[in-house]
Amino acid sequence: MNKLLKKYPNEIEKILSRYPADQTRSAVMPLLFLAQREEGFVPSDTLADIAEITGISETDITSVLGFYTLFHEQPGGRYYIQICTDLPCALRGSEEYLETLCQKLGVKEGETTADGLFTVEAVKCLAACHRAPMFQLQGDGEIKYYEDQSVEKTLAVIEALREKAKQEAANG
Ligand code: FES
Repeated sequence: MNKLLKKYPNEIEKILSRYPADQTRSAVMPLLFLAQREEGFVPSDTLADIAEITGISETDITSVLGFYTLFHEQPGGRYYIQICTDLPCALRGSEEYLETLCQKLGVKEGETTADGLFTVEAVKCLAACHRAPMFQLQGDGEIKYYEDQSVEKTLAVIEALREKAKQEAANG
């Protein structure tokens, strides 16, 4: 049984209608977004559903999922701090920056802080190579770039977001 299709028949029909009948593979990205929408990550059992709908292999879908930083394979925090550690950024100290930031936050790369707010990930090139260390912040429906970072600057961003979450909790 295709659970994704059963849950979102109309939306999936609408997505597929954007592509020629013999090009359903083109629908893989919007289908992954649909699968991710509710829980904030793509549950592994939906890969077979998407494979069935698009006619492409689960392995190919897993490759797409792993390639794009906007898709998440595991549950994560409210915010994703995605630090580029590709070679040009590594040459500008991004690996040390990532390691120190993780230490300060009490997590390992890929983990989420104890308050559930921040998942820290190492990612590939984000096209800001000359401004490393840099990270992309995903959360609250936005993506923002933070460039020329130091651990101190990033911790200040994190504290501001923690404060925002506290205020929201206090205001109910
Ligand atoms: S290598 Fe890091 S942004 Fe390009």
